[in-house]
Amino acid sequence: MTPCTLITGGAGYIGSHTAVILMDAGYRVIIIDNLCNSSPRVLDRLRQLCGDQFEFVQADVRDGAALDSVFAQYPVESVIHFAGLKAVGESVTQPLRYFDNNVGSTVSLLQAMDRADVRRMVFSSSATVYGDPQQVPISEAAHLKATNPYARTKLICEDMLRDLQDADPRWQVAILRYFNPVGAHPSGIIGEAPSGIPNNLMPYITQVAVGQRDYLSIFGNDYPTPDGTGVRDYIHVMDLARGHVAALEHLTKQQSSITVNLGTGHGVSVQQLVDTFVRVTGRPIAYRQTARRQGDVAACYADTTLALTTLGWQAEHDIARMCEDAWRWQSMNPTGYAS
Ligand code: NAD
Ligand code: UFG
Repeated sequence: MTPCTLITGGAGYIGSHTAVILMDAGYRVIIIDNLCNSSPRVLDRLRQLCGDQFEFVQADVRDGAALDSVFAQYPVESVIHFAGLKAVGESVTQPLRYFDNNVGSTVSLLQAMDRADVRRMVFSSSATVYGDPQQVPISEAAHLKATNPYARTKLICEDMLRDLQDADPRWQVAILRYFNPVGAHPSGIIGEAPSGIPNNLMPYITQVAVGQRDYLSIFGNDYPTPDGTGVRDYIHVMDLARGHVAALEHLTKQQSSITVNLGTGHGVSVQQLVDTFVRVTGRPIAYRQTARRQGDVAACYADTTLALTTLGWQAEHDIARMCEDAWRWQSMNPTGYAS
């Protein structure tokens, strides 16, 4: 049987796009997801894009027996671990749920991989591990500091992976620190479908554009940034997905572990993103300036040198393309996967 890549959380936003990119690149894919933050309809959409080239297992990654049966059934050679909870605000009010799910699933998965003799993992980390950065662009060598429970779960998992590599050099691990993933597959068939009120900027903008929300609140206009609004490194989800293929190839060829930022290296303000969206899509976006959101930093964007030198990867799509693709997805699917 052809070797497979196991994608945990593969029904989610980034996992589903990565599954498509991997299948396009000829990988055989197994998705495991408990659908706690995704719709089973994603799987039909993946079949629409890629045919029946993948297997789906509905299970919780904390369930060791379920993982053992996946490893027994399929010749898995590498794992991409996306499964996790990701809402910063929720993590502050429900920290145990975050530690249980994010740290618990990673421990359970690493144990099952060890039992199955599979020791190649790509891990979804986040720029949130840099906390309030002392300088931008942020390099991988920057100081790490968790400022909320969600960030702490990522930092604990990163530390765990570093300890594991120290203990057993057979482990090959790529820790990928994502900046702000936005956009959708260019077909508009899969995209980001947050449940309830979006926490993140781009899905909020597209929901205003489609008429689901009345106006966008711009959180803060008094930051020390060129126009006073927060600056982030928005990266097209298809570029991010390609970064995972580059990381898998690196692990296979170089047999050495890495920790890299996946961003574009360009800071874009909230106001610039809104203005670009309006220009590219022709949709008006009503907005109001409101107070800063607690816990937000002024500016966060990546130093992307290491990704280019070690993975030979760099982002290709600009902000206009991110807006165009995000809008295509939202306008074709006004209520996400319920459409
Ligand atoms: P998502 O919620 O869309 O996808 C996560 C998927 O994991 C969902 O389908 C969910 O059902 C599944 N899942 C959660 N816990 C599970 C468990 N215990 N067992 C099985 N399945 C489980 O989120 P996403 O945006 O695709 O994020 C993927 C990963 O990337 C997460 O680890 C997230 O923390 C990380 N990340 C995301 C962002 C972002 O802005 N989207 C930024 C940095 C890092
Ligand atoms: N913003 C608004 N209005 C909104 C939503 C966001 O003005 O309705 C602003 C924020 O204040 C910030 C910018 O838009 O300046 C981006 O905010 P997001 O919530 O989209 O993204 P964050 O940078 O706050 O956080 C995201 C993920 C985190 C992850 C981090 C770094 O939500 O999980 O990127 O990868 F850790």
